[in-house]
Amino acid sequence: MPRPTLIAPSILSCDFGRLAEEVRAVEAAGAGLIHVDVMDGRFVPNITIGPVVVEAVKKVATLPLDVHLMIVEPERYVGDFIKAGAATVTVHQEACVHLHRTLELIRSLGARPSVVLNPATSLSTLEDVLPLVDQVLLMSVNPGFGGQSFIPHTLAKLQRLRAMLDERGLGRVDVEVDGGINADTAKQVVAAGANVLVAGHAVFRSGDYRKAIAALLGK
Ligand code: DX5
Ligand code: ZN
Repeated sequence: MPRPTLIAPSILSCDFGRLAEEVRAVEAAGAGLIHVDVMDGRFVPNITIGPVVVEAVKKVATLPLDVHLMIVEPERYVGDFIKAGAATVTVHQEACVHLHRTLELIRSLGARPSVVLNPATSLSTLEDVLPLVDQVLLMSVNPGFGGQSFIPHTLAKLQRLRAMLDERGLGRVDVEVDGGINADTAKQVVAAGANVLVAGHAVFRSGDYRKAIAALLGK
């Protein structure tokens, strides 16, 4: 069943000196979720934000926080991020030795479990956990930085993911895509089956957040 497309602006590309204002501005401009990129300098070559910043965002946000953990051993921190206000917690398949247990942990703590694959990781690695998740995220860039170019191979992968979910009666699962989303790639990923679109540069580096989000929604 077709579902509404949601735009999830990634605060990684915002002006951190005006964080609260930036969150309010994208909410007023039509965002559907707030995407928070957590990086540890180990899983990815960049360090960003921790639970205290998530807590600060939670104080001003009215939309759910979609927290993307690009960290090793995420099971050590999911509790802290949920306490800080994460509604959805996304963990990398590549970072979880016990992925099944970690997804169950997220649900048991009251958040929506979500799993993400790097561009090089096969969808087959998800076969045995799909019934446990509320969302699957496919990286359309190698994680670590905003402003990179969309990897076209993601389109076929999105189509295969949607088919895998439909075959299993899991059409309720959100399919998110992250990296290099602009008005052109947005149209393509929606046609391929994505319904949650993360966008960093396309929103925060635009002069007009409302216009930028409308363009990503194909309006
Ligand atoms: C990449 C992050 C993305 C990033 C997207 O590692 O997970 O969420 O902020 O930024 P853009 O949309 O600029 O590619
Ligand atoms: Zn992200």
